[in-house]
Amino acid sequence: MLRVTILRRERGLAESKFTGETIRWGIVGAGRIARRFADSLKHVEGARLAGVWSRRADPAQALADAFGARAFADFDELLANIDALYIATMQDSHPHYALRAFAAGRAVLCEKPAAVNARSLQEMIDAAREARLLFMEAMKPPFYPLYRRLREHLVRDPIGEIGLVRAGCSASNVPPDHPSFSLEMGGGALLDIGIYEAFLAVDWLGEALDVQTIGRLGATGVDVFASLNVRHERGIAQLFCGLDLQGRGDALIAGTRGTVTIDEGWWNPARATIAYTDGRKVELDEPFSGGGLNYETAHFCELLRAGEIESPVMSHAVSMRMIAIIDAARRDLNLRFPFETD
Ligand SMILES: NC(=O)c1ccc[n+]([C@@H]2O[C@H](COP(=O)([O-])OP(=O)(O)OC[C@H]3O[C@@H](n4cnc5c(N)ncnc54)[C@H](OP(=O)(O)O)[C@@H]3O)[C@@H](O)[C@H]2O)c1
Repeated sequence: MLRVTILRRERGLAESKFTGETIRWGIVGAGRIARRFADSLKHVEGARLAGVWSRRADPAQALADAFGARAFADFDELLANIDALYIATMQDSHPHYALRAFAAGRAVLCEKPAAVNARSLQEMIDAAREARLLFMEAMKPPFYPLYRRLREHLVRDPIGEIGLVRAGCSASNVPPDHPSFSLEMGGGALLDIGIYEAFLAVDWLGEALDVQTIGRLGATGVDVFASLNVRHERGIAQLFCGLDLQGRGDALIAGTRGTVTIDEGWWNPARATIAYTDGRKVELDEPFSGGGLNYETAHFCELLRAGEIESPVMSHAVSMRMIAIIDAARRDLNLRFPFETD
């Protein structure tokens, strides 16, 4: 135990104060994903919802009541009563709440996209590191049982050198008043959906070196469809995302000795097929439970208990690489948000 403590001190990490204790979560925002998170928290051991704050009191109160938590009248008061903050507002406000949480000494799990551009994300990462606090973007797929099993399987029985990732998702049933259509809130298919595809590409192919995007903007000024060809350190990615076509794609990971297909709805992965060039086929079937957000939250709680400040799975570098792709795609589409000043 002493050795661990010394090693932690040498690495400049804090000694955890959470060993064995229940982690008290707070949520900022009281919309759709906030409710799903609160629900999934019931499936995370050693964690409970302690409080909610949102800029409108009624939805915050309703959410808190539904999950036996307290609705706070003031964001700082929420921060004073929790160990970790889950940011469930729209992305234009994620940095604001994250920076305030870090200033109050709280760990942050922030919904995707963690920020609307690399500059804002870097600010959040810098603040978290300076305060030596845990900060992770809530990118759920890598924590699902299927994705973990897939990784393990490919280490034991690889498909050769991986050189292509093809993935997409487009949903035509998004209501017109959905915040994804809001230019003011940093909406658009790229940030809402494309960030998942960017994750998959970065995860298997490394950093993006060149991004070429074709797409179109809709009536509200946000991107409603985009198709990306991305050259990465270790291969090429073909990605798409949209808000006006129905294309709930699967994902393909291609290697020199085989392919992996993750079934439709790949961002909530539950089934995959690995097909080897020698004719073998391996079916992976790993249903998820608890809604899915519980896996990333459980991982975050483990890190918090261990006194870590960064996830080895969803690292700050991976988040930066993801948003770099979206930044480049938005540049190609000439899409800037009104609040982006440079
Ligand atoms: N991981 C996933 O599976 C997943 C799924 C869906 C969404 N998301 C992400 O979750 C975030 C929220 O999406 P949602 O679908 O939950 O949206 P939503 O239902 O519209 O809820 C957004 C919540 O954030 C609040 N909010 C919005 N902008 C704010 C601001 N500038 N300052 C303070 N509060 C603000 C809203 O408050 P008001 O009611 O006062 O407007 C509302 O409580 C987005 O970043 C989205 O990308 C993740």
